[in-house]
Amino acid sequence: MDNLNKKLTVMAETTTSDMGPFGSCIIEGKPDPSTIVIVGASGDLTARKLLPALFNLYLNDYMPDPFLIVGCARSKMSDEGFRKKMKKALIDTNNLDNQKWETFAKFLLYRVIDYKSLHSFKNLADSLRDMDREYGTGGNRIFYLSTPPSLYKTTAIMLGKAGLSNEKTNQNGWSRIVVEKPFGRNLNTAIDLDRSLHKYFHENQIFRIDHYLAKETVQNILMFRFANAIFEPIWNRQYIRQINIIAAETLGVEHRAGYYEQAGILRDMFQNHMMQLLALTAMEPPSMFEAERIRDEKVKLYQAIRPFPTRDLQNYLILGQYGSGIIDGKKVTDYRHEPGININSLTPTFAGMKVLIDNWRWQGVPFYLTSGKRLSKKLTEIVIHFKDVPHSLFRQTLGEEITANQLILGIYPDEKISLTFQTKNPGAKLCLRSVAMDFQYHQNYSGPVLDAYEKALLDCMLGDHMLFWRQDGVEICWSFLTPILDKCETCQDRSRMLLSYESGSWGPRLLKRSKGEEPPP
Ligand code: BG6
Repeated sequence: MDNLNKKLTVMAETTTSDMGPFGSCIIEGKPDPSTIVIVGASGDLTARKLLPALFNLYLNDYMPDPFLIVGCARSKMSDEGFRKKMKKALIDTNNLDNQKWETFAKFLLYRVIDYKSLHSFKNLADSLRDMDREYGTGGNRIFYLSTPPSLYKTTAIMLGKAGLSNEKTNQNGWSRIVVEKPFGRNLNTAIDLDRSLHKYFHENQIFRIDHYLAKETVQNILMFRFANAIFEPIWNRQYIRQINIIAAETLGVEHRAGYYEQAGILRDMFQNHMMQLLALTAMEPPSMFEAERIRDEKVKLYQAIRPFPTRDLQNYLILGQYGSGIIDGKKVTDYRHEPGININSLTPTFAGMKVLIDNWRWQGVPFYLTSGKRLSKKLTEIVIHFKDVPHSLFRQTLGEEITANQLILGIYPDEKISLTFQTKNPGAKLCLRSVAMDFQYHQNYSGPVLDAYEKALLDCMLGDHMLFWRQDGVEICWSFLTPILDKCETCQDRSRMLLSYESGSWGPRLLKRSKGEEPPP
């Protein structure tokens, strides 16, 4: 409830006709004065995502006052060296306002850390205490683990041993730890990681980040479903034939060979982002818009996912790996010839999955989850395919099938909601045409928009868990995926299961589908 109290609800008067005379907004309060410690700050994530997000929060006046950002990593660097490196990263991604940057950069500091040395973590603790005194950050700290996942356990334990997780001994300031996915490699390692986190941190101090949850249009799914009376009554097996969830990318593995070879598409995209999109689309309404209730409903949904029959995997799962091809008019190499990738690699870069949910609402409705790298275009969307009309009075006259209604929840590149339906084509001839009613998400809005990392960081500073994973959800999803991964990774005809697809295509052949089921785009 503390988190909720930090938010001030206002009913803002607005003249926007779409919103009616009143639109209800929640204005976030300012986070407490605090220090954001980025552990592993010399890495790619800090330069590409975290620093740009923190700088944008600063520009939009969402940062705590005062705040400090302390980068820590093994590389030797001075505060000034760290600032220069971050400035360069920001110039690469933004038009940098130099004056604002100079003020912001004063609150950027850097400390060298040896992940294996408790002494080093104790020095960090001393430094943080000194900084609190000098800058007035009140002992409130976020430790954002931006290290390779193999260092999560040790780092969390070292932080704990150095007294940095203990809120009581720390001038009563709060201490939070943020962990990036992957949360383990399978069920056992996820449990093991969680035990290590919990050695020194309580569940309410742990933030398991999934940036998909913090995307505006993903947050909007619950609003769309549960703030309108007209969609929920048809949101079930009686009216819906199938649902497609797709997250397609044109990017390849880039410079992440070390991580991706170990992860593959199932761990990289399905165990987290795809499962969250599935939950938001299919879960029951919670009784309140409150973190724990929402996470409870997600868990109930995950519990209802039918386990795959591992002997009959080919009817539920296809895996692919990209070959060479053309993306955006340029020739691109195949996965196995990407830098750092094993020439015989069997790591999948594409997966298509047919998921069934065993509950009253969804019995018999297939959910097709598709994600892959080096596909034809970057596209993230959820498509609800409604059933055909029960009887068509036009069939005899028009001799044509009537296209069923479709609702698209566009996440990228079009942030939109689009409903297609049939109308009469104007003119003397009697014929039908499909038309779309579109809502562009930013229509009639001109305020600041937070990108996913900005929103996630802000919520963590505010102590709001709504957009973060809870461990029970992580574990249930792993118990669904682990048998599939085990089967795929140990079976003898592993190479036969992996289909090659051309870069720039829509992936390998589609799953066998029952009659009438729509393929993905
Ligand atoms: C990350 C994955 O979590 O999500 C990447 O590790 C993937 O492999 C990325 O490219 C996709 O995110 P977005 O926001 O670009 O759809």
